[in-house]
Amino acid sequence: MNLDFTYKNPTTIHFGKDSLDKLTEELANYGDTIMLAYGRSSIKKIGLYDQVIDILKESNKNIVELSGIMPNPTYKKVVEGAKLVRKNEVDLILAVGGGSVIDCAKAIAVAAYCEDDPWQKYWIDFEPISNQVVPVASILTLAGTGSEMNGGSVITNEAVKLKMGRVFPAEVNPKFSILNPEYTFSLPKYQMVSGIFDMMSHLMEAYFSNEDDVTTDYLIEGLLRSIINSAKIAVENPKDYEARSNLMWSASLAMNPLMGLSKTQDWQVHMIEHQVGAYTDCAHGMGLAAVSLPYYRKIYQAGLDKFVRFAIQVWDIEKAGKTKAEIALAGLDALEEFTQECGIVINLKELGATEEMLPKIAESTIITGSYKKLTTEEVLEILKTAYTA
Ligand code: NZQ
Ligand code: ZN
Repeated sequence: MNLDFTYKNPTTIHFGKDSLDKLTEELANYGDTIMLAYGRSSIKKIGLYDQVIDILKESNKNIVELSGIMPNPTYKKVVEGAKLVRKNEVDLILAVGGGSVIDCAKAIAVAAYCEDDPWQKYWIDFEPISNQVVPVASILTLAGTGSEMNGGSVITNEAVKLKMGRVFPAEVNPKFSILNPEYTFSLPKYQMVSGIFDMMSHLMEAYFSNEDDVTTDYLIEGLLRSIINSAKIAVENPKDYEARSNLMWSASLAMNPLMGLSKTQDWQVHMIEHQVGAYTDCAHGMGLAAVSLPYYRKIYQAGLDKFVRFAIQVWDIEKAGKTKAEIALAGLDALEEFTQECGIVINLKELGATEEMLPKIAESTIITGSYKKLTTEEVLEILKTAYTA
């Protein structure tokens, strides 16, 4: 049965090769002071930084820069940005980069005028927002997280070794996002395929839950097929515009959070990965890939019919002559082969984990899950399997 839901997505998307042309008219809707938030060097290397600065100057905006936003953005960086916002009375935070930059911008937007401890209030206690939120907009350079069209903000607090994510209400979504697939051409293959697994994981987290006949599951199957097809093309030819644009739009659709509506969801893979990330600082999508295979192989019996459906609908596994368990496992084998074909890393050691970290990661993992609730010991078993994969 479809669960009740309320869906609102206020983000305006400008998609395509000329989408940066829309920036001037969008900026006219905001005050004079714009914070340009970005990562380390990539936007300068591709010339996007200069283009954006020119547009901001032509629009007579005061520019406040926040650079150096790191992958897995830290709470320390959020505090730095929040101070800058208050000091300069920033009217709009323009995030230019991947999910980390956009997530950090949203965190700054809610933290800047929070009079309590923002970390405790918003990322630990998950309290509703009760202060002014600074508007955020984005120019996306990495397809994967969906942060460009959602309220998600995942922040790592290094002091307490916790990576915590939260989907804020739609008022925190970027007001507009500019999506030009050509900006992703410069991504190293490692980052491109990490983003690809991330978008797939968002869909699988929603899919592997319940047995009802809901529209959302059919949408997920279609999106997964499109991503798998485009990923194979993009791995061969990273400058294939059609494949890169399919991936970019699929990522936004996968986690906006349209694909999770109307049904229960799982999210255990993300919960484990967040703590893997807190300890190793690995690329998010790679951490997800490492955890997914041992996790799904551990729980598939509890959701057997859905894993069978996944194998048939997404991976075209033949049913004839196989038991349900064999079909389900063949689907998971196909997922593993896909990771190999794309060069996605599934070994936790390779991602920077040490044996000593594994129990700490297991103990600090939040348990969600759907078909099966894991114990801490089972999380540890999954981590150990991923460590030797
Ligand atoms: O720092 P720069 O120089 O910009 O380099 C970045 C960074 O090193 C580079 N990059 C980005 N665009 C590029 C580029 N390099 C060359 N050319 C380009 N066009 O890529 C590296 C990784 O960037 P990052 O933003 O960290 O990657 P991603 O988009 O995968 O974001 C990951 C973060 O988002 C969170 C993850 O946990 C992680 O912290 N997530 C956010 C979600 C959300 N908002 O809904 C949901 C996700 O599940 C996820 O948890
Ligand atoms: Zn993710």
